[in-house]
Amino acid sequence: MAKVTVVGAGNVGATCANVLATREIASELVLIDIKEGFAEGKILDIFQTAGLMDFDTNMTGVTGDYSKTAGSDVVVVTSGVPRKPGMTREELIGVNAGIVKSVVTEVLKYSPDAILVMVANPMDTMTYLTHKATGLPKNRIIGMGGALDSARFRCYISKALGCNSNEVQGMVVGGHGDTTMVPLLSMCYYKGAPVARFASEEVLKKAVADTMVGGATLTALLGTSAWYAPGAAAAYVVEAIVRDQKKVIPSCVMLDGEYGQKDICIGVPTVIGKGGAEKILDYTFSADEAAAFAKSADAVRATNAVLKEIGAL
Ligand code: 2OP
Repeated sequence: MAKVTVVGAGNVGATCANVLATREIASELVLIDIKEGFAEGKILDIFQTAGLMDFDTNMTGVTGDYSKTAGSDVVVVTSGVPRKPGMTREELIGVNAGIVKSVVTEVLKYSPDAILVMVANPMDTMTYLTHKATGLPKNRIIGMGGALDSARFRCYISKALGCNSNEVQGMVVGGHGDTTMVPLLSMCYYKGAPVARFASEEVLKKAVADTMVGGATLTALLGTSAWYAPGAAAAYVVEAIVRDQKKVIPSCVMLDGEYGQKDICIGVPTVIGKGGAEKILDYTFSADEAAAFAKSADAVRATNAVLKEIGAL
């Protein structure tokens, strides 16, 4: 039994709410947005599918009234603007930092014990900002980028191998950026066997490259950011929390010496359960992957530094 709030009824937030409702991950679901009637409309639309999809979730759509989110166990923060074709996620920092800061302040007023799942971009920096703005314990703020990027990685690897993506295990660590993601090819397996046995290096390298621009490819095709996979990825993290699944999900969490990094939120393999980010696992990356991870952390740190320049920190 868990109350889950999704902040932002845009494409990603509404998709996340739809997955949470149809899979009955939340027993009580609140979708909140600032645009008058929008969240109410999205929830009514989802509710009208209940008889078709056979689910029974208590759902409410709300305009701006955070008191309705009170007592949430988990809150997904999707609010902010999405990117347009040709934009990087990092370019959204100026607008989204202000939005994210005010949203998390409102959320915690009514749900002081909630675990926060961060989606707004640039996701690593918004997760870092949330830590600095709220001072919450490390386990309670989780950025969902690694869940999404790993799903995309498994998708592209399965296309390369011509296999079922559910049979592919793979993780993407590092930042959630077109150039900062680190797909871990050295630990990618097809039903327990290294993928290198089933495809050439060239084919696998292309799958890695496609993964890294997975979001940008969709932004170019759709004219705005993707939503089915990002929404489902956020719901996947929420499910691991509310069902205490102890899943290993590459998640953007605050590091304190792990992987040689401190005072940074970046994607690392993390056990997700009812305590939120319960444990960071210590994997050994290949030399190339370790170097890429260190470079990724430098880039994320440079974006974090912008928070000070724009007065958000
Ligand atoms: C993506 O990669 C929205 O950042 C998200 O599609």
